[in-house]
Amino acid sequence: MNIKDNFKNSTYNLGGLLSLLVGLVLLFDHLYNEFTFVSLYVVIMILIGLAFSHKSNWFLISICLSIELGGILINGEDITIDYIDEALFFFIIDSTAMFISAYNARRFTVVKKHREEIVLSLAKALDARDAYTAKHSVNVAKYAVIIAQELKMRKEQIETIYVGGLLHDIGKIGVPEEILMKASRLTDQEFTRIKQHPLIGFETLKHIKSFERNGVLDIVLYHHERYDGKGYPEGLKGDKIPVFARIMAIADSFDAMTSQRAYRGPKDLSYAMNEIHRNKGTQFDPKIADIFLKVIAKDAGFLQIVND
Ligand SMILES: [Fe+2]
Repeated sequence: MNIKDNFKNSTYNLGGLLSLLVGLVLLFDHLYNEFTFVSLYVVIMILIGLAFSHKSNWFLISICLSIELGGILINGEDITIDYIDEALFFFIIDSTAMFISAYNARRFTVVKKHREEIVLSLAKALDARDAYTAKHSVNVAKYAVIIAQELKMRKEQIETIYVGGLLHDIGKIGVPEEILMKASRLTDQEFTRIKQHPLIGFETLKHIKSFERNGVLDIVLYHHERYDGKGYPEGLKGDKIPVFARIMAIADSFDAMTSQRAYRGPKDLSYAMNEIHRNKGTQFDPKIADIFLKVIAKDAGFLQIVND
């Protein structure tokens, strides 16, 4: 990881901000030492616990000790027995605050990881219903993340895109396999049945409040909307379609074109690129389509990278 990457890493940014805060508190403590700044120290320790929760306990203890010692050295206190007692008392309070917040953050990370594993299992279970679309959800999630990264979206937004990609077709659990895997042309009635999957997916997941907040539900419900308003289920047009769903529409079509289907073999990369280009402004958001085409054009082995 180079210096530029470090600046992009939120842990480094948070670490830098916290170091600045610690420095300021120590400085103010030194300048106005009649006021102890105990509560500020505790707040800082809580933030440090959250920021460095993934580091070892020894790292956390050494940070806490360094800050306490820094405070003593800056203030130039006389080291008496009473003072050592007091310093030890504050060290215990500060380190307890830091460890409680680090523990909570670690628990949150574990719960989040479990949720990701459940979502991935659901997506794989869905893909397993149709041998021709095995890996479709995982591939769509990967393509959508590549687009989101090119759009310089935030880490949380990219995580939403990934989860939304894995779950975008979850409503297909309500569509019979003989329709999903039909090699010949679908009847109008069968196509109407397929078109219900965004709504079935939405109904399945709408009780998960975090999916409503972060936009996963928008992806599930609107990934078949078209930029020209001729999509389904609501016929939303242009920027009225949530941006995550506009990204997903491109990722979804790209994977559908470049992978094997019951009714045809996979199309090659240039065919898929031409189709995306040809449908800019009608089916797809033109800006997002251009961004995706640029990424693909940069690397001839694009499909290989994603499938590895
Ligand atoms: Fe779909």
